[in-house]
Amino acid sequence: MSHPPSENGRGGAAQLRRACIIGAGSSGIAAAKALHERGIPFDCFEKSDRVGGNWVFDNKNGMSAAYRDLFINTSRPRMQYSDFPMPESYPDFPHHTQIAAYFEDYVEHFGFGDAIAFQAGVQRASRRPDGVWRVELDTGETRLYDALLVANGHHWNPRWPEPAFPGVEGFTGQQLHAHSYRENSIFVGKRVVILGMGNSAMDIAVEASYVAERTYLAARQGVWIIPKYIFGKPIDQMRNDPRIPFKVRQRITQKLIRTYVGPPERYGLPKPNHRFGEAHPTISGRILDRIQHGTIVPKPNIASFDGTQVCFADGSAVEADVVVFCTGYKITFPFFDEDLISAPDNHIELWRRVWHPEIPNLFFIGLLQPLGAIMPLAEAQGAWVGDYLLGEYVPPPKRQMRAEIEADQRAMRRRYVASKRHTIQVDFDDYLYALAKERRAGRARARANGFRPPAPCLPSAATTAS
Ligand SMILES: Cc1cc2nc3c(=O)[nH]c(=O)nc-3n(C[C@H](O)[C@H](O)[C@H](O)COP(=O)(O)OP(=O)(O)OC[C@H]3O[C@@H](n4cnc5c(N)ncnc54)[C@H](O)[C@@H]3O)c2cc1C
Ligand SMILES: NC(=O)c1ccc[n+]([C@@H]2O[C@H](COP(=O)([O-])OP(=O)(O)OC[C@H]3O[C@@H](n4cnc5c(N)ncnc54)[C@H](OP(=O)(O)O)[C@@H]3O)[C@@H](O)[C@H]2O)c1
Repeated sequence: MSHPPSENGRGGAAQLRRACIIGAGSSGIAAAKALHERGIPFDCFEKSDRVGGNWVFDNKNGMSAAYRDLFINTSRPRMQYSDFPMPESYPDFPHHTQIAAYFEDYVEHFGFGDAIAFQAGVQRASRRPDGVWRVELDTGETRLYDALLVANGHHWNPRWPEPAFPGVEGFTGQQLHAHSYRENSIFVGKRVVILGMGNSAMDIAVEASYVAERTYLAARQGVWIIPKYIFGKPIDQMRNDPRIPFKVRQRITQKLIRTYVGPPERYGLPKPNHRFGEAHPTISGRILDRIQHGTIVPKPNIASFDGTQVCFADGSAVEADVVVFCTGYKITFPFFDEDLISAPDNHIELWRRVWHPEIPNLFFIGLLQPLGAIMPLAEAQGAWVGDYLLGEYVPPPKRQMRAEIEADQRAMRRRYVASKRHTIQVDFDDYLYALAKERRAGRARARANGFRPPAPCLPSAATTAS
């Protein structure tokens, strides 16, 4: 499982004893590849028997939300890693099986599979006073590390409505969260209520609408529905230059969507109380058609349950056999003591979504919600942390990190609709642009520092705890 440093001529790697990566989903493997190519020794622990995380249908880890007919909603060019294009034969929005195969191929292509330990879940990760990370595995083994990279995903712990709706415990129909939805056979001939206006709600409502007797889509607030294509191209392939002020880009995109799709109220959906770009994007090429075909009926929020009925905020009620709560996810780190790190109400303050300002050898990979895909951002984060561990990047002082975190939190609160799903938002191109700039600044600091890597916490050769 241990991965030997490669001979790349960089001095720093020899000084860092070993790093640990938790998770081999698309974020964990991007980080693993970055450490591998820098010759940094590491172990990557993965609960499942394969890489790919969420994209492995019926994943043995029980954590995947993939349903049989899941297709990505960020286009292929947007989602692929920068140095490993998806096959040309793939469509613009591939199926989850193609995405899972792509992640397998990535590991194979860059040749770091032997550094991933499968069916090795991290049960506990604690930090000793000397900074060493003590990682306890569910195999019974304990290992010690100089640095910890957390890539455990943030779409696996279902958030049910909070507080629960009155009467829900007496509801006679079936209730499930989007996380456990697999295929639309469960809806055949049934009266179905879907709650939510995110991408899970869109996909599952559309799937239900083909087989259910009735499908209702309930929402507590409106969103802009973004089509997958505009002018014959995936919408996320439109030029988006981060050097142009956000407000200008926002106005142009808003105008395009209003012209192309029209306001959501025209389809009987609630009017958004925000402008485009102020909520996580809801992307669907199919929902509006299905509503206009009369196969999905929009409803306001659920107010309560009454035996066989679902009652809505406008006083109407429908008989229902199945309710699907597409109400999002909780950011969770079951392996940390809560007083070390936790994310109550999905709130977590990290510098640039990666660095904990008080814990210099802890990093989070892929813990962000982009307007765009996660993978190229996780790739850039992995490379950034890799540079730091080698001594080729030095972060700014803690004081500056703290000030930037506060400014970022304020900006996010100002811009986004108040919701537990808007706590780790970033703009794809803007994030990459700002990160590239920061890496240049940090490289200049590293040069002034003589490219000295961070001092290892571990005494030499000690990687297994007694
Ligand atoms: C239905 C759905 C569709 C989506 N579609 C898109 C899309 O089109 N485009 C997009 O960019 N994003 C999409 N997302 C977001 C999704 O989070 C990312 O696509 C991607 O899965 C993130 O990868 P990850 O590696 O961060 O997390 P995950 O894919 O969740 O992988 C985390 C890995 O960590 C492992 N792990 C967790 N805990 C431990 C532990 N304690 N010990 C060891 N291993 C552990 C898990 O087994 C898993 O393999 C979608 C999400 C959902 C739910
Ligand atoms: N095809 C695809 O690629 C695809 C498919 C599914 C999901 N995804 C991705 O998976 C991630 C999760 O998406 P998601 O749709 O599952 O979750 P989500 O984006 O967090 O959306 C949750 C929805 O539920 C609503 N909600 C939450 N609590 C509620 C309550 N108590 N009462 C009423 N409404 C409530 C939210 O409304 P508020 O906004 O008011 O909080 C929001 O509309 C996203 O990144 C998404 O893009 C992608």
